[in-house]
Amino acid sequence: MFPDLTRTDLQAKLRAAGQEHLIAFWDQLDEAGRERLRDQIERIDLSLIAGLVRGTQHGPNWSELADRAMPPRAIRRGDPHNEFSPAAARSRGEAALRAGSVGMILVAGGQGTRLGFRHPKGMLQVGPLSSRSLFEIMIDRLRAVATRFGVSIPLYIMTSPATHGETDEFLARNERFGLPASDVRLFCQGVMPAVDAATGRILLAGRDQVSLNPDGHGGMLTAWAASGCHEHALGRGVRHLFYGQIDNPLLMVCDPELIGYHLLAESEMTTQVVAKRDPLDRVGNVAIIDGSTQIIEYSDLPEAAARRRNPDGSLYFWAGSIAIHVFETSFLNRMVQHRDGLPFHRAHKKSPFIDADGNRVEPASPNSIKFERFIFDLLPFARNPIVVEAGAEEVFAPVKNAADAKDETIATAQAAMIARDKTMFQAAGVKVAEGVPIEVNPRWALDAEEVSRKLRPGSTVERATYFV
Ligand code: UTP
Repeated sequence: MFPDLTRTDLQAKLRAAGQEHLIAFWDQLDEAGRERLRDQIERIDLSLIAGLVRGTQHGPNWSELADRAMPPRAIRRGDPHNEFSPAAARSRGEAALRAGSVGMILVAGGQGTRLGFRHPKGMLQVGPLSSRSLFEIMIDRLRAVATRFGVSIPLYIMTSPATHGETDEFLARNERFGLPASDVRLFCQGVMPAVDAATGRILLAGRDQVSLNPDGHGGMLTAWAASGCHEHALGRGVRHLFYGQIDNPLLMVCDPELIGYHLLAESEMTTQVVAKRDPLDRVGNVAIIDGSTQIIEYSDLPEAAARRRNPDGSLYFWAGSIAIHVFETSFLNRMVQHRDGLPFHRAHKKSPFIDADGNRVEPASPNSIKFERFIFDLLPFARNPIVVEAGAEEVFAPVKNAADAKDETIATAQAAMIARDKTMFQAAGVKVAEGVPIEVNPRWALDAEEVSRKLRPGSTVERATYFV
């Protein structure tokens, strides 16, 4: 009796929302399958989905907004007129690190669909000579920074239901790459259903399974608070959080200079950017619209605005977002309480699904809309936000695509890692023979000064070497 009764309730609720097809295979499911499906459906906010589907046609009028948009408040690379100097920023950031008031958030919950890797992206072996995984690469740098400043830096890793178990197991098996258990917390983000782009109907991934996806890196905000990480950070005296994404092996984890600019500017949220090379680069554009700093996605910025130039020929909208931020812990807390939360963005993507006859369909082109929250939507709410320019070759080489793509592959990221390490050696006065790859573990040397203490300036590295 009971399951039938529940089914009736479920059916009524779904019918009212136009999503009754979700239980089309109910009669064929065993009790465990029904339980699973019911549980998934009950977690979906059907009215939210209906609103998001209805809203498909109405976005802001970007060409109007772009007319009013201005470049952001920024620290430009090498500009003597900047508000703060690199030296002042470094010393301020180092003081914060030494005081133990910095924590690290690493988001690693994405599905990595473009990459086509069947495990959490953090397990991908990217070290050019070491084959270190992305998790190990991040943790090595974190440990090096912590050692330099004589502190422990808590690491908060965001997973999703799809990556949580395997990530947990991988880190445990590798003893968290040397970090004590008390310094690492995993927290799992939420999910959102994918809907059919033509009908707005929620897709089924199986007869007893809704097509669910992680709710975007912006899902971090609620998951961070709900998982108790916020309390944990407060308990550890963490007042500033360095935020990065797992798929960028050049990430300068807890970079003192970036933290320092953030603190000198009394900013609640600071964003690292790179200068766009091409007006149509596929990166978000940081701009100020009506007094508030925000990111205009490349797909939203009208081409004429993207091509706009200053009298000296440089791009007017120059600041390309690379998803590296520093947050005040108190700001995240304030935003968790915020009435509306972060907005959802819609993305047209391929989602395999089962059709009305129960057959699995692998779409050849985008067939669905996925709903994701983006962490950068916090920017307009932050007090004194500031952007800090860096060179892409210093801080950003993400792995997004499979090997056959032209860019953002493992190979391009590895080349960038080797190139950056070579630049560091050069600054230390150590030569690397032409065509010879090197890889430096930051625990061996975090900067050129440390390199010059370990290798004689004027010497040459003749063979491929992993310095560890
Ligand atoms: P991307 O937007 O590049 O997504 O995420 P992705 O999942 O890695 O790859 P595609 O788009 O499916 O090919 C940028 C960063 O944000 C994290 C990812 O793990 C990556 O580090 N992310 C993304 C999350 O943690 N959760 C999400 O829901 C989405």
